[in-house]
Amino acid sequence: MIKTKELISQIDRPSPDSSSRANDFRFDRNERTTLFSDDEFSNMLSQLTPYDFVAYGELEPFYNKITKWLNVNRNNILLTSGSDMGIRTVFETFINKGDKVMITQPNYAMFSVYNKMFGGIELIKTYQENLTLDINDLLNGLTEEIKLIVISNPGHTGKVVEQKELIKIIEKAEKLEILVIIDEAYFHFYDKSVIKYIREHKNLIVSRTFSKAFGLASLRIGLLVADSKLINELYRVKLVHEITGVAAKIGSFMIDNLNIVNNYINDVKEGKEILYCRLAKLGVQTFKSHTNFMFFSLPEKSNVELFINYLEENKIFIKGPFKNYPFSGQLRITIGDKAQMNMFCDHVKKFLS
Ligand SMILES: Cc1ncc(COP(=O)(O)O)c(C=O)c1O
Repeated sequence: MIKTKELISQIDRPSPDSSSRANDFRFDRNERTTLFSDDEFSNMLSQLTPYDFVAYGELEPFYNKITKWLNVNRNNILLTSGSDMGIRTVFETFINKGDKVMITQPNYAMFSVYNKMFGGIELIKTYQENLTLDINDLLNGLTEEIKLIVISNPGHTGKVVEQKELIKIIEKAEKLEILVIIDEAYFHFYDKSVIKYIREHKNLIVSRTFSKAFGLASLRIGLLVADSKLINELYRVKLVHEITGVAAKIGSFMIDNLNIVNNYINDVKEGKEILYCRLAKLGVQTFKSHTNFMFFSLPEKSNVELFINYLEENKIFIKGPFKNYPFSGQLRITIGDKAQMNMFCDHVKKFLS
């Protein structure tokens, strides 16, 4: 057998998944849970021509649209195949074997996978019981031995780090020559970005995706935003065609039609209010969230496994129960619109009674 690279041989990935979720309630992966309307969808498709399928994508119009939308320069961005590829690009470009990488956990699982792939040593900073990060602890933990720190904001618990705290982290990191990734996958549900700080802080990389609020998870559109010197380095390992021409056309259409995105964000807000209000009445503990998902835990003595089975019998899929401290026993739901969240609460009520 031909020997695999040592670092790669230590990586395990999930087995192929042959299930179809098309007819299920997909409340488990933080995608858009509702479909686009027929009109919206046909308008999207009308952007495409046969040329878009046969020719390699022409991405500059999309780059130009993004630079105007985000108010940055062309040399401040790199499109990537989902933010997943953006994150991998950062590790591939900057992480040497033995480099220390601080990752706030829980987080998007691929941070740890890419860290292993490129030989980084993971230093874990765990969220606290109230689902927030201990910022002083994190600041104290930053030393010149660290090469990269990763924070998702909003984070994987639904909570946020306030901008002034983030700036403290970025500033201290800059003095210590530590690169900072702020993953803003869920930015649109919160609305405070650090993109504008790339001008002042040359160690800051912001990652964004079109998979969440834009509802285009399958099209694989992500981007990195940073000082041009960092982007030039990241550019060295970019794919020949960063994303497909088809994805670029639909991404452009969405930037021209942000009302579609805003309507969905509003649907999530309304759905979230229903969850807060109705679940509290049922004795379910909910955690405030700045994203399109929310942690919650059933009343004491409820059987969580039976609850999950009950939901799955009704074609409803959520995430959890989580096993590790401080989330043991907790569940996570991707938030849908009012109708979906009322339907979900009806099921919780039925199960608990
Ligand atoms: C925090 C975070 N970052 C990045 C991603 C990757 O998203 P994508 O590769 O679809 O852009 C996800 C996906 O769930 C995520 O939760």
